[in-house]
Amino acid sequence: MPKPMTSWSTGGHHHRRERNDRGTNPGRTALREHRIRRPGHGAAVNIEPLSVLRIGEIIDLMGTGAPFITPRTWSDYWVYATLFSRTCPLAVIDGQIAGAVIAFRSQDEPDDIYIQEIVTHPAHRRRGVTRALIDAVADHGAGQGVRRLYLTSKPENHAAHAAWTRIGFTNIPGDRRVDGTSVVSDYKGPGRARAVYERTLRSP
Ligand SMILES: CC(C)(COP(=O)(O)OP(=O)(O)OC[C@H]1O[C@@H](n2cnc3c(N)ncnc32)[C@H](O)[C@@H]1OP(=O)(O)O)[C@@H](O)C(=O)NCCC(=O)NCCS
Repeated sequence: MPKPMTSWSTGGHHHRRERNDRGTNPGRTALREHRIRRPGHGAAVNIEPLSVLRIGEIIDLMGTGAPFITPRTWSDYWVYATLFSRTCPLAVIDGQIAGAVIAFRSQDEPDDIYIQEIVTHPAHRRRGVTRALIDAVADHGAGQGVRRLYLTSKPENHAAHAAWTRIGFTNIPGDRRVDGTSVVSDYKGPGRARAVYERTLRSP
C-alpha cells in the first residue's frame, strides 16, 4: 500500500494543518492533517498517490462524475499511476476511494500543473474532499517549484464553478459569459468551449 501523502479527519470546525516534511524532496512526504467542518462526519481521510492496485476503483469512481466526467481506460490510469502518481492523489475514507484528482505537470510549461479531472463520490460531496485534494496537489507543486494550477470545466457545470471559485481559483476572462461564468469559445477545439480557472502557487 503506498505511503499516504496527507491525512486528516472530518468533524472539526476550522481547517488545521500540520506539516511534517521528511527527506530532501519537498512535497513528496508532506503529511498534513485537516479538520473540515461538517459535524457528524468524523471519518479519517487519507490522501495517497494513485496506484495500480486502485485502478478498478478509480474507473468506478470516475463513472460517478457523469455527465461531466467519462472514465478512461485501464491503460490510461496505469500511465497516471506509474508516471504521474504524485499529481494524481486519491482521498480514501475507511479504505474506499471518496475522491480523486488526475493532474499533470506540463512539460511544455513546467511552471504549470494542469488538473485534467477531479471527482468526489456523490456520498462524500460538500465535505471538503475536493478542497483537500487540490491542496495536496498545490502543496506538492509548490514544493517542486510549480507556480500555477489551472483547469477547465464545461460552462454548464455550476457545481464545478462554485467549487473552483470557493477554493481560490480565478475564472479567467474569456470572450463571452454563460450564466455568470466567463467562457473561452473553442478552447479545446471547434465547438468545445470551456470555462478556464487558475490558482497561483507560492513557494513553501
Ligand atoms: C465539483 C466537485 C468535484 C466538488 O467536489 P466536493 O468534494 O463536493 O467539493 P468540496 O466539498 O471540497 O467543496 C469545496 C467548496 O466548493 C463548494 N461547493 C462544492 N460543491 C458545490 C455546489 N454544488 N454548490 C455550491 N458550492 C459548492 C463547497 O461549499 C466548498 O466551499 P466552502 O469550503 O467555502 O464551503 C463534485 O461536485 C463532483 O465530483 N462533481 C461531478 C464531477 C465534476 O463535475 N467534476 C469537475 C469536472 S471539471
